[in-house]
Amino acid sequence: MTGEPRIGDVFGELLRDALAVQSGVGARPLAGGRLPRPVIEVIERDDGLINGAPAAHYLAGPEDWQPYDHRAVDRVRGETLDVGVGAGRIALLLQERGVPVTGLDTSLGALKVCRRRGVRDLVHGTVDEHVADGRRYDTFLLLGNNLGLIEGRDRAPAFLAALAALARPGAQVIAHGTDPYGTSDPVHTGYHERNRRLGRLGGQLRLRLRYRELGTEWFDYLVCSVAELADLVRGTPWRLADVDDRDAPYYLATLTLTG
Ligand SMILES: C[S@@+](CC[C@H](N)C(=O)[O-])C[C@H]1O[C@@H](n2cnc3c(N)ncnc32)[C@H](O)[C@@H]1O
Repeated sequence: MTGEPRIGDVFGELLRDALAVQSGVGARPLAGGRLPRPVIEVIERDDGLINGAPAAHYLAGPEDWQPYDHRAVDRVRGETLDVGVGAGRIALLLQERGVPVTGLDTSLGALKVCRRRGVRDLVHGTVDEHVADGRRYDTFLLLGNNLGLIEGRDRAPAFLAALAALARPGAQVIAHGTDPYGTSDPVHTGYHERNRRLGRLGGQLRLRLRYRELGTEWFDYLVCSVAELADLVRGTPWRLADVDDRDAPYYLATLTLTG
């Protein structure tokens, strides 16, 4: 035994258990074999910082959403790809509204949870892999902080190019991001400085997720300012058309396809 987690489908397992806790159906994590316990996503950063976040919000209905989630779905039009669909909370509302929506996720377990909750159109894989399927979209959603999937300077051009290859003329990306630089907490400001010294963006987080005995591989997840996003978008097929920062430090960025 090394104390290291076994690599596995962390999101899939935690969403499955969160659904069991919410619905009361299926095996649930129990304290002392009897009492239901909350499902906690453990987020490890590569400086040793550890955070725990209850997973229940991934299954939350619109009544429990943040205001910017509502403003994001109100901007949706046409054939929509929900990138990193999670447990399908956004896709379910769009379906209800009659929007043609496809949920994409790299987690097979997350897709299974989506299917059980009623999301009809699901694709397994990354945006790059999905290009070959020949489907094309008018709106791409990166919600639940999933602007993070842009990762950093190295990955951003390829990620945005894959979205452009999946796009119909006039397409838009609606992405939820968080400006990380308002903090004076030395644990975070020190991390940002260290990142910059390494040639990375300040909020380019190196993370792994854990749930019970499982872990993911380490991966980059970008938390960036609007100015940094504007830099990353420059020279790509997308234009930063609008920023809604009414709920700062959170923001919704809308990118539109140029040409
Ligand atoms: C933070 S959750 C957000 C879930 C959902 N968008 C929401 O708002 O509730 C991230 C989701 O993205 C998925 N994911 C992670 N990397 C991905 C990738 N490269 N391509 C597609 N999905 C990915 C994860 O499996 C997970 O379901």
